[in-house]
Amino acid sequence: MSTTDMQLRVGMVGYAFMGAAHSQAWRTVNRVYDLPARARMALICGRDAGNVAEAADRLGWDAYTTDWRDLVSRDDIDVVDVCTPGDSHAEIALAALAAGKHVLCEKPLANTVEEARAMAAAAATARASGVRSMCGFNYRRVPAVAMMRRLVADGRLGVIRHVRAAYLQDWIVDPQFPLVWRLQKDRAGSGALGDIGAHIIDLTQYVTGQRITGVSAVTETFVKERPLPAGSSGLAATVDGSVDGHADGAGPATGPVTVDDAALFVARLDGGALATYEASRFATGRKNALRVEINGSLGSVVFDLERLNELEFYDATLPTAEQGFSRILVTEGDHPYMSAWWPPGHIIGYEHSFTHQMRDFIEAIATGTDSEPSFADALQVQLVLDAVVRSAELGSSWTDVEPALTAVAV
Ligand SMILES: NC(=O)c1ccc[n+]([C@@H]2O[C@H](COP(=O)([O-])OP(=O)(O)OC[C@H]3O[C@@H](n4cnc5c(N)ncnc54)[C@H](O)[C@@H]3O)[C@@H](O)[C@H]2O)c1
Repeated sequence: MSTTDMQLRVGMVGYAFMGAAHSQAWRTVNRVYDLPARARMALICGRDAGNVAEAADRLGWDAYTTDWRDLVSRDDIDVVDVCTPGDSHAEIALAALAAGKHVLCEKPLANTVEEARAMAAAAATARASGVRSMCGFNYRRVPAVAMMRRLVADGRLGVIRHVRAAYLQDWIVDPQFPLVWRLQKDRAGSGALGDIGAHIIDLTQYVTGQRITGVSAVTETFVKERPLPAGSSGLAATVDGSVDGHADGAGPATGPVTVDDAALFVARLDGGALATYEASRFATGRKNALRVEINGSLGSVVFDLERLNELEFYDATLPTAEQGFSRILVTEGDHPYMSAWWPPGHIIGYEHSFTHQMRDFIEAIATGTDSEPSFADALQVQLVLDAVVRSAELGSSWTDVEPALTAVAV
């Protein structure tokens, strides 16, 4: 089979929020980008036969199964896409890698460092036989974020002094919001920290090319008991009402919230920068507000997800009289990922980051190159999450972060 004829038969586990976003991207990617392989939406998996059959039809999958073990062991599946809560990432991804499947796994990679370490080691072993793996830190693939990285890599910011990152939401401000899976440590690993804090950890390490070496943290759970949901899981009761996917109302009893509602920390990066991070689900009015500012010796750059086609750039090398923050509209053909979309000025949105993720993963598989963020990169994020938790437990004491390269035996 020539590479242009190559078909990658995808099997996806989970079909609620991320399942829908990934489906959209798998459906679109080959229609937008000219790639050396074609993705086929072959098989979707969920636990409830009726719900998953409906999802297969709605999202455009050829067939469905109710057992992820069936999905990972089938000969007619090449890629396994893990879109389930964190408590099943390790088990599914390890089985898929052992079966020789390429694996795309949603973030955070796992619920614990031990799981992430095992996954990174398995990915390194599988890589030797041409098997690729990637973690779904999709915000890297917003063109403006990739452009930020280009500016830093090209030296336009000089020496990086400060990183200021915040990812703020407000969907659990109401104390009557039910105890969905994201509020349970055994299912989610951690709260705002692993869910949204993981994104800004990955994004800032990616953009700066620097690794977080140590942290001092505070975390808080503001609402410690919540009504038990009648359904099982979710991000917000209004996202969908399926028993399989999301909360569908509060029951009479309550249960303990076992994760953080907010996590704040300061950090050092290995290039000498000082950084601050804030992840909260209690930032009233902030729905999905991800903002990153980087200050360097030659300039600054700012990204705000609510204006995701734009970057603010300050070039301190210009004559003083001309200095000031300027707005770059990141829609030109020579901006990252934009050549295949629309004419300059025709903006794109949230879902496109997933299309870009699938583009890069397909290309890596078809050309036999490494895909990023690798499971080792995602282990690095997991090590930071773990250090934040330990620091907070020890009254914010300074806690070093082990480098992932020494944490995984390759
Ligand atoms: N990249 C991003 O921006 C982003 C955004 C949201 C969530 N996520 C991550 O994606 C993952 C899923 O989150 P979500 O918001 O889609 O959750 P969700 O609750 O909307 O969906 C979870 C899905 O997993 C299914 N599922 C759970 N256990 C299963 C099992 N054992 N076998 C088969 N199916 C199973 C559920 O039925 C549901 O369809 C999490 O790791 C989350 O952190 C990433």
